[in-house]
Amino acid sequence: MKLLVTGGAGFIGSAVVRQAVAAGHSVVNLDALTYAACLDNVASVAGARGYAFEHADIRDRPALDRILAAHKPDAVMHLAAESHVDRSIDGPAAFIETNVTGTFNLLEAARGYWQAQGRPETFRFHHISTDEVFGSLGPTGQFTEDTPYAPNSPYSASKAASDHLVRAWHETYGLPVVMTNCSNNYGPFHFPEKLIPVVILRALAGAPIPVYGQGENVRDWLFVEDHADALLTVLTRGAVGCRYNIGGENEARNIDIVRMICAILDDLRPQGAPHADLITFVADRPGHDLRYAIDPSRIRADLGWRPSVTLKEGLARTVRWYLDNEGWWRALQGRAGVGQRLGTA
Ligand SMILES: NC(=O)c1ccc[n+]([C@@H]2O[C@H](COP(=O)([O-])OP(=O)(O)OC[C@H]3O[C@@H](n4cnc5c(N)ncnc54)[C@H](O)[C@@H]3O)[C@@H](O)[C@H]2O)c1
Repeated sequence: MKLLVTGGAGFIGSAVVRQAVAAGHSVVNLDALTYAACLDNVASVAGARGYAFEHADIRDRPALDRILAAHKPDAVMHLAAESHVDRSIDGPAAFIETNVTGTFNLLEAARGYWQAQGRPETFRFHHISTDEVFGSLGPTGQFTEDTPYAPNSPYSASKAASDHLVRAWHETYGLPVVMTNCSNNYGPFHFPEKLIPVVILRALAGAPIPVYGQGENVRDWLFVEDHADALLTVLTRGAVGCRYNIGGENEARNIDIVRMICAILDDLRPQGAPHADLITFVADRPGHDLRYAIDPSRIRADLGWRPSVTLKEGLARTVRWYLDNEGWWRALQGRAGVGQRLGTA
């Protein structure tokens, strides 16, 4: 297939791009190259046959029309977004502009393109979203595809809005969409403002490791390469109009994740005292959701997909990747806001 991947210079988008190219698809990577982007993430495929990069912004409708007409993709995989909850607390406007208005632009551009092509049934608009749209769970229960939306942060509210737009463009215009809502990702190329890379890099520097609140918040963690694999599975085999929850079957409290990383570093980079001595509890994030958990029954039953990487194995691979790729993360540490406490409202 020929895929137009938006946000392909980001964390998950670049994993999708690398895997799609490896699987033999042609890929057009459309990215605005915001602070969160890094073209090094796709350097391994930059010279591959069938790979092209388009520096464009999904808020720019004429650019989207031009790129669709020029490349004539069989599918759009939409990952471009503002993605950091803490930044959404400090500056929600960019989240509305990119995640809501940008998705609206892309839907309209895709609809125009799809209609001009004679409305092919094989076309797909794959919208990639988050489990955060469902809000917060108590100690038990899991999100299914039918869980009512209850987003609590500006980020999750903007993603929820975009999900509703995609659903409506299918119901109203018949655009052949598939949608996925995924739990927390981690792995190589994770931008150094998110929890897991922050913990690794602070621990390596011997600096205090900030943990919000008491670290009791529970997330389900999915290795990013597994997410990319799930996305390509849904794209190629998912039912039109259907949504799939994607999870890692790996629930853990933040404090346990932090301790696991510290233990891995104690083995790989011993520093005299245990790295866990650096853990420092800091003021919680406003509106911090207590727990997310995914019921993965649908994607498992309908598409036979399951994650392949356990949390223990994935964290060990991730830590080793950061140890081996210091040049990559050092170059990003100077970007605006990285290393600072954001989102205290
Ligand atoms: N990270 C997670 O744990 C997670 C979990 C579930 C779903 N998601 C969703 O997956 C997608 C990708 O997440 P990520 O963690 O890779 O994000 P990221 O912040 O690492 O990457 C986002 C990419 O989108 C690009 N982008 C931002 N605004 C743009 C615009 N206006 N036009 C074009 N490109 C733009 C950025 O330059 C960047 O390359 C997002 O839609 C996010 O909501 C993320």
